[in-house]
Amino acid sequence: MIREMHAAIFDLDGVIVDTAKYHYLAWKRLANEMGFDFTETDNERLKGVSRTRSLEILLEIGGSTIDDAAKAKLADQKNSWYVDYISHMDVSEPLPGAAEYLQCIRAKNVKIALGSASKNAPLILERIGISSLFDAIVDGNKVSKAKPDPEVFLRAAEELNIAPTECVVFEDAEAGIEAAHRAGMSAVGIGNANVLKDAEIIIPGLFAFPITLPSE
Ligand code: G6P
Ligand code: MG
Repeated sequence: MIREMHAAIFDLDGVIVDTAKYHYLAWKRLANEMGFDFTETDNERLKGVSRTRSLEILLEIGGSTIDDAAKAKLADQKNSWYVDYISHMDVSEPLPGAAEYLQCIRAKNVKIALGSASKNAPLILERIGISSLFDAIVDGNKVSKAKPDPEVFLRAAEELNIAPTECVVFEDAEAGIEAAHRAGMSAVGIGNANVLKDAEIIIPGLFAFPITLPSE
């Protein structure tokens, strides 16, 4: 059961916005330049995975072995293409109901944080026009351990100054649900009920407005 929600911590990709399509375009371009293909099915393996680990998976797919310096160069190249794509994002990009849900809970004094692995999260929030709705932004620049490690969510609770047990995490990845539970938080799963079966509540998207707020 979901306990009272005094703070809400949101994953970014797949919860607030679909950045996976831009990651896909940039990774595919890199793979194609290296002479192999990279499909949308392959891209599923990169969701919620760090930039470095994503590159390693891509290189496995292409059967390519290179040293760390070459890897760093390729990761930088992919990121510069990705930043080009996301720089063109606008206020039409938040997923259905996302901006409205954030506004609604904020009006009821629920603290809001972002808990994302992406180092580009601040730029994305700014481009889609919702930065001002967040009390704290914890992104890939602030944490070193990937989900399912709870670091990103514990850091968010700390920045909000709210006890982990009073935080609810919104996540679309199985590793994110596990990270929330390891942080002592409740989890709302967004998306596929089979994958997210450990979440306290599972909904198709934030448009479903799932939670009874403390003031209601
Ligand atoms: C999120 C996405 C991943 C991405 C990671 C790092 O977790 O789901 O696909 O690789 O962030 O993103 P970045 O913008 O730092 O490369
Ligand atoms: Mg996600």
